[in-house]
Amino acid sequence: MDARRERLRVAGAEPIGLYTLLRLERGDLDPGAPGQFFMLEAPGRLLPRALSLCLAPTGELAFLIDPIGPGTEALCELEPGDEIHVFGPLGLGFRLDVERPLLVGGGIGMAPLPFLAEALRFPPAVLGFRTPEHAEAAALLPGAELAIDPTFVTELILPGQDVLACGPEPMLHAVAERCPGAQLAWEAPMACGYGGCYGCAVEIDGELKRLCVEGPVLVSRAA
Ligand SMILES: Cc1cc2nc3c(=O)[nH]c(=O)nc-3n(C[C@H](O)[C@H](O)[C@H](O)COP(=O)(O)OP(=O)(O)OC[C@H]3O[C@@H](n4cnc5c(N)ncnc54)[C@H](O)[C@@H]3O)c2cc1C
Ligand code: FES
Repeated sequence: MDARRERLRVAGAEPIGLYTLLRLERGDLDPGAPGQFFMLEAPGRLLPRALSLCLAPTGELAFLIDPIGPGTEALCELEPGDEIHVFGPLGLGFRLDVERPLLVGGGIGMAPLPFLAEALRFPPAVLGFRTPEHAEAAALLPGAELAIDPTFVTELILPGQDVLACGPEPMLHAVAERCPGAQLAWEAPMACGYGGCYGCAVEIDGELKRLCVEGPVLVSRAA
């Protein structure tokens, strides 16, 4: 699956709870594998923003976006017919050769899980959110068990499951401690997305990794 850069037209941008589902006409871009990401031009900003693919309906690429700053806010304000440059798919996604998958998402970390759930034929999933309003996004993953703060999503993980997780860093560390061998999708600010700037280098398990090429999905080695 070669990464390509194309200018794509916005098909729709719908609120889902406190997030926005941005749907783009797919053009000739490949959706890639679950857990891979795309760099989306953020109107009015110099650098693109990294977003995981949430869903790949026929002819479209859909991204679930948390408007936490100027770039993501600008993306959430796009309207049908607008056009932006998109580059991807990038990075290494989730391995799908697992026997007893459990999808674990925290907040906007649920973004790659609907596409992953489709690829794994809808395995069990647990999602954690800060508020019931954030939890409205769980509609994109029907059947998922929910934990709302102060209950933590990690409390819903049972032993013996092959965990595939995405969420905030403290949640990923907690999952790593509980589930060695879990596949974890990490985040770091990314400027290029293809290994050129070293801006996304992070220390994980005592090693420096460029998350955009060696990740964002890494296997947990913590015990
Ligand atoms: C591989 C990957 C996949 C992602 N997938 C999604 C997704 O599907 N949906 C989504 O909403 N967001 C996703 N993100 C996060 C998204 O890229 C950032 O929220 C976005 O770049 C922030 O840009 P901004 O201009 O809105 O805010 P900024 O002003 O750039 O940032 C706002 C605040 O968030 C911090 N921040 C920014 N980017 C990151 C980051 N990547 N990791 C940790 N802290 C950060 C900044 O330090 C600042 O405090 C993903 C990030 C990566 C690396
Ligand atoms: S984002 Fe540039 S090296 Fe990873």
